[in-house]
Amino acid sequence: MHHLVAPSILSADFANLQADIEMINQSEADWFHVDIMDGVFVPNISFGFPVLSALKRYAQKPLDVHLMIIDPDRYLEQFSAAGASNITVHYEACTHLHRTVHKIKELGCRASVALNPHSPVSQLHDIIDDLDMVLIMSVNPGFGGQTFIERTYTKIQELRLMASGRNDGLLIEIDGGVNHQNAQALLRSGANVLVAGNTVFAASSPTQSISQLKHVSANSFFA
Ligand code: DX5
Ligand code: ZN
Repeated sequence: MHHLVAPSILSADFANLQADIEMINQSEADWFHVDIMDGVFVPNISFGFPVLSALKRYAQKPLDVHLMIIDPDRYLEQFSAAGASNITVHYEACTHLHRTVHKIKELGCRASVALNPHSPVSQLHDIIDDLDMVLIMSVNPGFGGQTFIERTYTKIQELRLMASGRNDGLLIEIDGGVNHQNAQALLRSGANVLVAGNTVFAASSPTQSISQLKHVSANSFFA
């Protein structure tokens, strides 16, 4: 499978969100990555349903919603109704993860679980068959523009191995500090969805930066 690219609109210009949405619509990006932060699970507050609805009005690609909130079960219906295609909940925020995952699927969304940098991949041993995607945090969640944590490569490899033969279609998404230098190694380790905030929106040409991420090859040393 060709990998997917999901620009994170956390790094977009909120004073001119429509322009950045159109840029992503016209680009080679596959999804909109949408970070929801509650100021409790992570030390930052991003935005909520009014902004999500505005985004949905103009976005022509699926919304990949990453919930960095405690007790996400309370809001799953609302996020699905607001137009989320994928819903990611944090392993660390769910007491009854199996129930949460199946609720997301019942709502017709892709079900995904995120692991913070300190959470081992092995925690997913008994749920991996049920997941559409795993999001591996390669920074501590809460902010864009942070430095990539190198341990991530090993975690991807471990997860791909664990999924092998049980859930071969599992999407593995990497979120935090993804850039043009580490993208290829991430794909080679077994990732197939790249989130990028700063790398896209701080670039002189965001469209070109997306295109570059999209055309990284996992197979060639010289991509
Ligand atoms: C961080 C968010 C990320 C963030 C990534 O908590 O989950 O999606 O926007 O931003 P970059 O790519 O700049 O690290
Ligand atoms: Zn995210």
